[in-house]
Amino acid sequence: MCGIIGISSHKSVSNSIINSLKKLEYRGYDSAGIATLADGLINEVKSKGRVENLENNFDLKNLSGNIGIGHVRWATHGVPNSVNAHPHSSENVSVVHNGIIENSTILKKYLLGKGHKFKSQTDTEVIVHLITENLKSSELQEAITKTLKQLHGSFALGIIFKDIPDLIIGARRGSPLAVGYGPNENYLGSDSYALKSMTNKITYLEDGEFCFIKKDEVNFFNEEGIKINKKVLELSSDQQNYDKGDFKHFMAKEIEEQPQTLKTGIKEYLDSMNNDINIYNFPWKINEIKSIMLIGCGTAYHSCLMAKYWFEELTTLDVNIDIASEFRYRKNRFKNDTLYIFVSQSGETADTYAALDLCNKNNMKTCAVVNVIESSIARDSNFVLPIHCGPEIGVASTKAFLGQILVLYILSLKLSSLREEIKNKDYQEKIKDLKNLPGLIEETLSVDNDIQAIASTFNEAKGSMFLGRGFSFPIALEGALKLKELSYVHAEGYPAGEMKHGPLALIEEGMPVVVLAPRDNYYKKTISNMQEVVARGAKVLLITNKSKDEIVSENIWEKIEVETTNDDLLPFLLTIPLQKLAYYSALKKGYDIDKPRNLAKSVTVE
Ligand code: AGP
Repeated sequence: MCGIIGISSHKSVSNSIINSLKKLEYRGYDSAGIATLADGLINEVKSKGRVENLENNFDLKNLSGNIGIGHVRWATHGVPNSVNAHPHSSENVSVVHNGIIENSTILKKYLLGKGHKFKSQTDTEVIVHLITENLKSSELQEAITKTLKQLHGSFALGIIFKDIPDLIIGARRGSPLAVGYGPNENYLGSDSYALKSMTNKITYLEDGEFCFIKKDEVNFFNEEGIKINKKVLELSSDQQNYDKGDFKHFMAKEIEEQPQTLKTGIKEYLDSMNNDINIYNFPWKINEIKSIMLIGCGTAYHSCLMAKYWFEELTTLDVNIDIASEFRYRKNRFKNDTLYIFVSQSGETADTYAALDLCNKNNMKTCAVVNVIESSIARDSNFVLPIHCGPEIGVASTKAFLGQILVLYILSLKLSSLREEIKNKDYQEKIKDLKNLPGLIEETLSVDNDIQAIASTFNEAKGSMFLGRGFSFPIALEGALKLKELSYVHAEGYPAGEMKHGPLALIEEGMPVVVLAPRDNYYKKTISNMQEVVARGAKVLLITNKSKDEIVSENIWEKIEVETTNDDLLPFLLTIPLQKLAYYSALKKGYDIDKPRNLAKSVTVE
C-alpha cells in the first residue's frame, strides 16, 4: 500500500506535492519520491525513509515545474531503498503506483527482450517500459488503454510524459483513486484525505476507469477508452486539523481521547430523552435479517469477534465472522437474509473492500462500520454506521477499536430490542450503564504508573501470552497485537482454556503472561487456567475489575484492577491497560510509536 499524488497547475507544484505526501504517510513511510516536468525534462528525486528525509536530502523548494507526481511507499516488491522508491521513470515517462502487478515477471521478460533496461527490483517499473513500448506503435490514448489491459493485478497510477508538458494520466483498478478540482489547477490522489487540504470538490474513479488531467480540464474514460461523464462530489468541509497537542505521540493522545470519543459515539446513537437507541434510516425490516456475518482485518477483525459474543448473548441471530483476506477467496454461501457488516477504521483496507465488493456483486445486504465516512467501503455499502472517533493517525489502532466495538454493541442491543429478545428493564439498565462508560474509561486511564513499571519485563522476554475467556478472549488477541505492532516482541493471544492443548509447552520460568480475568461468568474457569501457567513459572500480570471479593490466588506477579461495570462493557475497560502496556514497551525501546516498522495505517493492497 502506498500513497500517490499528482498536480497539474499554472504554478510550481513541488511544495504542494510534498505537503500532500506528508498527509499520505499513513499509507506507507519506508521511502518517498517526486517527479516534476520542467524545461522539457523529467526531474525525479527519491529517497529511503520518511518524506522529511526527502526534504533533507534534496532542495525541493527549488524543484521547478507546474506539473508533478509524488509517492510514499510501503514496499511489496523490492527492498525499501532510493532505487526502488517511486516515481519510476524512463527518459520519456514517469510513473507512481499503488497496488501489485501480478504478471510483472512475464512482462519484464517480454520488455527485456525488446531491449528495455531495468533499474529497480519493483513490479511497477514494467509499467514505465510497457507504456514506452506501446507508444512506439500507438497514439497516446490507445497506448494507455492497451497498457492497462496488459497489466494483471491492482493499481492506482499517476503518469506524466516528458513530451506532454501539462498532462497527468490517472488510472484505477482495485486501489482507490480520486481527482480533485482547484482554481487553475487539478489534482490526482489516493483518497480524499490527500486532497482535502487543496479542494472540497472531488470525483472518485471506479475500477477500470482512467482520466486525463490538465490544469484547466479533466476527462474521464472507461476501460475501452470511451469518454464518460462522472459526478463531482462535495467533501464535508469539516477541516479536522489534527495535531499531537502536548502529547509526545498521536497514539498517546488517541488513548487519552477515548472517554471523549466514546461520549461522542454514545451521543450520536442514544436518544437520552427516551433512554433508547436510534439507528436512523436503518434500511431493513428486522424480520428480513436472520443472520449476521462480520468481516474485517487486524484490529477490526478483533472487533468482529467481540461483536459475535454480544450478538449471541443478546439475540438468537446466527452470527459468523471472517477475516476479509480469507472470506474473499472462500466458497461462500451467500444468503439474502444475512446482514454483512464490514468493519474498518480507514474504510480503504483492500481485503475488506474486496469482500464488500463480492457481497455487492451477489446483491447482499451490506453495512459498513467505519471511521472515515468518505472512504470506499462507506461509499459502496448499503448502510453506514460511523464510529465518530475523528482522525486516527497512530498506526496502532486504539480509539477506533473502542469506537468500533461501541457501535457494534449498540447495534446488537438495538437488534435485540427490535426482536423483543431482551426485557425492557434489562434494555434500560444496559443503556444506563452505557452512559456511564466514558467516565469509567476516564478513571481506568489512571493505571499509567503500574503499567510503566511492568512494561520492561515484556521487552526483555523472548515472548509473551495474553489469555482470556469469553468476552475477554477478543481483548486478549487485541492486547497481543498491540504489543507486537509497537514493541516488535512476539506475543500471542489465546483462549485461556485452550492452553493445555499445546501452547502450555511455551511457558517457562519468568515468561510474562497477561491473564484477563474480570469477575464475569468466565472468572472461575479463567483463574484455574491461570494456575496452570503459574505452576510452570509464568510471571502473571492479572487484569481484573475492582470487587470487594479478594482474588484467591498466590504467585501472581502483578495485578491491575480496572473499574467495574456490567459484564457486556468490561471488555472496554480491560483494553486500556493493554493499550498502555504496548505504548510504554515501545517507548522504553525508543521505537517510532506512531509509525512502527513494516506497517502502514491503511492496507490498500492484498
Ligand atoms: C491495528 O492496530 C492495525 N493498524 C491493523 O491491524 C488494522 O486494524 C487493520 O489493518 C485494519 O485496518 P482498518 O480498520 O483500517 O480496515
